[in-house]
Amino acid sequence: MTIQQLINDRVVAALAAVGVEGANAAIQTASKPEFGDYQANGVMGAAKALKTNPRALAEQVVAKLDLAGIASKIEIAGPGFINIHLDPAFVAARLQTALYDDALGISKPAPQKVMVEYSSVNLAKEMHIGHLRGGIIGDALVRVNSFIGHDVIRQNHVGDWGTQFGMLVAHMVESRAAGEAELELKDLDVFYKHSKKRFDEDPAFADLARDYVVRLQSGDAEVLALWQQFVKLSLAHCNAIYRKLGLLLTDDDVRGESFYNDDLPVLVEELRQLGLLTESQGAQVVFLDEFKNKEGEPAAYIVQKQGGGYLYATTDLGAIRFRTRQLGLDRCLYVVDSRQSLHFQQLFTTARKAGFLRADAQFEHIGHGTIMGPDGKPLKTRSGDSVKLVDLLDEAIERAYLLVSGKSPEMAESERRQIAEAVGIGALKYADLSKSRNTDYIFDWDAMLSFEGNTAPYLQYAYTRVQSVLRKAEDYNPAAAIVIGEPAEKQLAVALSQFEDVLSTVAEGSQPHHLCSYLYNVATLFSRFYEACPILKSEGEVRQSRLQLAALTGKTLKTGLGLLGIAVLEAM
Ligand code: ARG
Repeated sequence: MTIQQLINDRVVAALAAVGVEGANAAIQTASKPEFGDYQANGVMGAAKALKTNPRALAEQVVAKLDLAGIASKIEIAGPGFINIHLDPAFVAARLQTALYDDALGISKPAPQKVMVEYSSVNLAKEMHIGHLRGGIIGDALVRVNSFIGHDVIRQNHVGDWGTQFGMLVAHMVESRAAGEAELELKDLDVFYKHSKKRFDEDPAFADLARDYVVRLQSGDAEVLALWQQFVKLSLAHCNAIYRKLGLLLTDDDVRGESFYNDDLPVLVEELRQLGLLTESQGAQVVFLDEFKNKEGEPAAYIVQKQGGGYLYATTDLGAIRFRTRQLGLDRCLYVVDSRQSLHFQQLFTTARKAGFLRADAQFEHIGHGTIMGPDGKPLKTRSGDSVKLVDLLDEAIERAYLLVSGKSPEMAESERRQIAEAVGIGALKYADLSKSRNTDYIFDWDAMLSFEGNTAPYLQYAYTRVQSVLRKAEDYNPAAAIVIGEPAEKQLAVALSQFEDVLSTVAEGSQPHHLCSYLYNVATLFSRFYEACPILKSEGEVRQSRLQLAALTGKTLKTGLGLLGIAVLEAM
């Protein structure tokens, strides 16, 4: 159980013992050492509800509060906060368990079947900067949820269906006949542009493209095979990026829009039987009273266009239905740009009405903001095009290479290249993950590649420092006892014991930035501890205990960065 939960349960019990039932103990980690390690803030709310003096109530609660073996000191502060100081022996025992466990001693919640849907690119075009955040955030959520014991399914809901594929396949056939398709498909955007140009300029080509769409949709084997070839080539582009960025996604995680295609007529019929459909201007829509416009009219969620075509929304309903009925998901995280927020709200509302979502299932839109340029507008290249992801990743690695070469010119080139990859990609990922996902941020190479502040290079460097201390201590005894004495030891130890608290917070709100702040705090507290408490110059039990703290700091940084998809190095 997380420490937070442990304390929460005890405070809730104490509140109940003084006659306050169902109160929220509101346990928070203390913001300053003088407030202890945790604060219970819920007494104030309870006192307000009971119209009694909060300080008096806090005194009653503390009299009943049993934190034996957990806290060594409990104080009432201000108008009725309860400050809780953890017992060093309790902390040390938790750290000792963490040291000998790959999962750092965390206890696992009841396992859930969780899908993380992310990346979900449209295969007609090349991956660009707009695909960066979703990929990075989704991957971190996969790693965190798996680590805490959930059964996680990765899902890449690629856009692989729709009219533009007729045009693309037609162009693929045409350029192959001219012997140049392989060459062109190396650059998907150029390929797309040329296809579009052919479509706009040559009526015979346009007719062929339209014919392909019809044949594709009616399941014509020949056109399907061509379409599959195109999809495969396009996915190969994505895979190259996923590998370079170190994402977990593979072909096995792809279940694209086309997968649901055959099910859409069945689904629309089901909605009709349920009485949810209304015809509106020739289209089939579900009216949603929950979403009224200014005139007070309900929003129309269109599931079938005039003429019978299906839409993005229809496919998403198909996907929800599949994920509920076939996969039995407990939770599904849709990591998608926040600009699609209304789509998802309406999707979930419609799905609930139709019974495609279990009442207790948590299907959530994990929205994220946009990456901005220095001018505060979405980042573009100088010529105004969207930044290709492949170029961005190469630039990150190249910049890191220059940085590493400047710092360690004597290092072998191959080693510098290897470090540059970990630092460059790590910096890019960390810069993203360390910000709240809900807001936009301004892209800044210098800030993300700095060795100071809350950055990946700082943390990667901190890790190498810890490792270098451990390498120097030949007498390090991994079985030694942790004994917490000095304040700097206690602060570091308490932070190390809170790893589980943080993972639980990250998983619950799908917010990786809490893990970043946590790791930064651990690294900072380690530096302070390192300055205040000599490790290699100390002796005996104290020395061994401090080495244990260093070892666990290293393990926590490595594991934590690993959960963010960031590699550590033994030296840099
Ligand atoms: N392919 C879509 C796009 O590029 C994103 C898909 C998001 N996922 C979903 N289930 N709708 O905008």
